[in-house]
Amino acid sequence: MRAVRFEKTGGPEVLEVVEVDTPEPKAGQVRVRHEAIGLNFIDTYHRTGLYPVKLPCIPGGEAAGVVEAVGDGVTRLKAGDRIAYTGGFGAYAEANVVQADRAVKLPEGIDTRTAAAILLKGMTTEALIRRTYPVKAGDTVLVHAAVGGVGQIMTQWLKALGAEVIATVGSEAKAAKARELGADHVILYRDQGVAAEVRRITGGKGVPVAYDAVGKDTFEGTLSSLARRGLFVSFGNASGPVPPFPPARLAAGGSLYLTRPTLFDYIVTPEELDASAAAVFEVVMSGKVKIEIGQTFTLTDARKAHEALEGRATVGASLLIP
Ligand SMILES: NC(=O)c1ccc[n+]([C@@H]2O[C@H](COP(=O)([O-])OP(=O)(O)OC[C@H]3O[C@@H](n4cnc5c(N)ncnc54)[C@H](OP(=O)(O)O)[C@@H]3O)[C@@H](O)[C@H]2O)c1
Repeated sequence: MRAVRFEKTGGPEVLEVVEVDTPEPKAGQVRVRHEAIGLNFIDTYHRTGLYPVKLPCIPGGEAAGVVEAVGDGVTRLKAGDRIAYTGGFGAYAEANVVQADRAVKLPEGIDTRTAAAILLKGMTTEALIRRTYPVKAGDTVLVHAAVGGVGQIMTQWLKALGAEVIATVGSEAKAAKARELGADHVILYRDQGVAAEVRRITGGKGVPVAYDAVGKDTFEGTLSSLARRGLFVSFGNASGPVPPFPPARLAAGGSLYLTRPTLFDYIVTPEELDASAAAVFEVVMSGKVKIEIGQTFTLTDARKAHEALEGRATVGASLLIP
């Protein structure tokens, strides 16, 4: 089968199209024939070496398709099931083997392209806005990169919960999109000071919770946007990792909290995985969260896809099609 692989870490040019043996499922695993592969910022962290991986590496931790072979002892899935999965590696390929208890069956109302666009990004949103900090109606929430893959889902889901959303975006065109998604206030964070704008919007109070996956470039602004005892949810590094900082900075900011969550600590058991996925499918099928597949690339164009994602040239979710 065809796959995209890197043998050394580096820029998008290290991604090579290769022919590899189609893997056979071991006990507890299934093989899924991919119809759509989810592109995620974490794939770039693996490629650059920011998050260390074993080399050579077929990147990608999210895809959707049809089960075509089943290993011993699998009862959760059977051949022909439409599924999506997230976690591990090997998604940048025509097929992959995955642990059956790490995959979810797709409901009728969710096609495989939508599934590959929402499983990882949607479950991340679900965990962050319902469990890391249970957002309630009336909360004012700061969301960075609000028209990105995760950002679009988060902005709309927060609005569905009755929150007031302060969105940040990198361009005027993205600002218009953020408003379309329901954001109440939009900050162009490349030109405007985030904390000053947030203080102005909130009458000086600041926000009780801020979701920041931009990392290095937004860290100070996010910290300074929080209300007393507010929660900083730092969940990514699109602009680079946050440098170390002294805990006393949290005291100076008003007895703040900071958490650095990763989705996989919120979908540990099959029950947690199924519940999170079900909540995502439900909010999408209800129409409360609309999914924009902003761009699709062929699998063999994975380099271009990485360039676009890192170049801030994408909106919404991106897919690789095998
Ligand atoms: N912790 C977890 O479990 C978890 C799970 C999923 C995703 N994440 C994180 O969530 C974030 C969003 O992921 P995604 O896949 O949906 O990506 P994405 O938001 O579609 O793309 C990243 C966006 O970040 C913004 N950005 C700001 N500074 C940037 C820079 N220097 N370089 C590149 N982009 C920059 C850009 O939007 P603007 O042009 O509007 O600035 C860009 O479009 C990533 O940081 C990812 O690692 C974390």
